[in-house]
Amino acid sequence: MEKRMPVVVIRQIGETDTILRALQEYGIHCEEITFRTPCAEEALAYACKDYPQMLIGAGTIINGDQCRRALAAGAKFIVSPGFSEEAAAVCREQNVAYYPGCVTPTEIMKALEWGITTVKFFPAEVYGGLKGMKALSAPFPQVRFIPTGGVNAENMKEYLAFEKTAAVGGSFLVDEALKQAAVSADSPARGKERPFAPTAGKGKE
Ligand code: 3PG
Repeated sequence: MEKRMPVVVIRQIGETDTILRALQEYGIHCEEITFRTPCAEEALAYACKDYPQMLIGAGTIINGDQCRRALAAGAKFIVSPGFSEEAAAVCREQNVAYYPGCVTPTEIMKALEWGITTVKFFPAEVYGGLKGMKALSAPFPQVRFIPTGGVNAENMKEYLAFEKTAAVGGSFLVDEALKQAAVSADSPARGKERPFAPTAGKGKE
């Protein structure tokens, strides 16, 4: 898994190329496409087919049905805002990484019972941020976190400096990538740069 996990919300299918190209140019080749908009399933299928070099997962998965549909669309991993036993079971059955949202000791213990040691810490800034993650790390040294929710370009570095942070997640990464894409589109040097040649996704974390 890369250290930055953009939370991608596709509201219209036509946005998919713009966002994924911007992320690639920004140096990000891994993202969760959220399963929360009417075109999410279609966007996921399109993205997985047309961007095989990227590691694309499905986010906002809240039950087994969504999980099956996301995997059928080509998702390489599954992220949930909380813990869905149904999604965990589908992922286990299909041997796919599952990152449930866990912010309490009880939720983390449940994840561990399912053999899951990397969890999404969501919404990070509401549940104590880095301080909360550090406190949870004392009894759960085997757990790694993906803080998401309130993470931004400023606090990202502090999160990433913590050894138990597997990656940081957030919509801000999409915003940053789009901002950079807009700047380079305006740049007079445009057209001189070499074509982008991304490396293939690495599979599971
Ligand atoms: C999500 O939509 O999954 C999270 O709310 C992302 O939070 P952010 O917009 O604060 O990054």
